[in-house]
Amino acid sequence: MLNKKEILELIDEAITVREGAYAKFSNFKVGAVLIDDKGDHYTGCNVENSSYGLSMCGERNAIFHAVSKGMNKIKVIAVVGDTEGPISPCGACRQVINEFATDETVVIMANIKKEYKVVKFIDMFPYGFRL
Ligand code: THU
Repeated sequence: MLNKKEILELIDEAITVREGAYAKFSNFKVGAVLIDDKGDHYTGCNVENSSYGLSMCGERNAIFHAVSKGMNKIKVIAVVGDTEGPISPCGACRQVINEFATDETVVIMANIKKEYKVVKFIDMFPYGFRL
């Protein structure tokens, strides 16, 4: 697993990518960074739309970006928002993380004050659907 310095560096990376979020309707920017099983980093931010339901979360944008570059499994995914405590990924993103997770996948939930929680994905999304 990552040590504290590596966790804080990943949160910094997510905070930077969060700046690029397109969140003009909710004004709630989210940044996400994942590290895959090869050690590569992929970023994503939320992108909203005038047709609200077409908006996409930062986590899923990071994952879809990573898949397009050949990502196989998620080792770690960090998510950052301007929340009171650490942000928690939505249910739709959990199902998408589940598709690329292993029993070792870790989620770092954080906020822009760099308060964070590290949770094993399997503990936050047991019994996920997979074919
Ligand atoms: N959002 C994310 O990007 N990730 C989450 O896990 C929760 C919500 C986005 C979607 C929308 O653009 C904004 O935050 C407000 O819900």
